Amino acid sequence: MALRIGDTAPDFQQDSTDGEIDFHAWAGSHWVILFSHPRDFTPVCTTELGEVARLKPEFEKRDVKAIGLSVDPLKDHLAWAGDIKETQGYALNFPLLADADKKVANLYDMIHPNADDTFTVRSVFVIDPKKKIRLIITYPASTGRNFIEILRVIDSLQLTDSYKVATPVNWKNGDDVIIVPSLKDEAEMKTLFPSGWKTVKPYLRLTPQPNLKK
Ligand code: BEZ
Repeated sequence: MALRIGDTAPDFQQDSTDGEIDFHAWAGSHWVILFSHPRDFTPVCTTELGEVARLKPEFEKRDVKAIGLSVDPLKDHLAWAGDIKETQGYALNFPLLADADKKVANLYDMIHPNADDTFTVRSVFVIDPKKKIRLIITYPASTGRNFIEILRVIDSLQLTDSYKVATPVNWKNGDDVIIVPSLKDEAEMKTLFPSGWKTVKPYLRLTPQPNLKK
């Protein structure tokens, strides 16, 4: 059955550019972004891997470990890594799973046969420290992902895990947030949101992002 948000991310062992990965042990108590590529030596994938390498400090700020996958052998990954560094200016600084036997691709339903019966689509899984899947996005092979958007969702997930808030359309870190509609007790709201809030509708109440220092 296909994986869904809230499911436990399946564990696996697979070879990678950083050696054999035992996925749950490798993830430890960190957040993880697991993302697949159609294949090695392709232009869109080359730009994406360079971008994830460039964004490593942003992922680290959020305690996120990145791990890529394509269904090519390790020797191809290692040769391709040189092209990524040469053309994108950033060397691979996270593991790329060498999933030639498609073990992980099948486990995570990354091959969509009506799109391509051999290669993976561009799947993204964000997994939290309890190994729960928190985000699933699927892009077609022809469209490179926006990893800034993925960072934005991680910001939202981490914020909404800690505060009784949700994030509105196009929200980005620092913008006002929505107080969850289930919170009705005014005294509790005053404690949780000392900066106050604006009631647009009884179910739509905006407050400054609560974890920001003034
Ligand atoms: C690419 O990564 O450039 C790509 C891969 C498969 C199909 C189309 C583009």
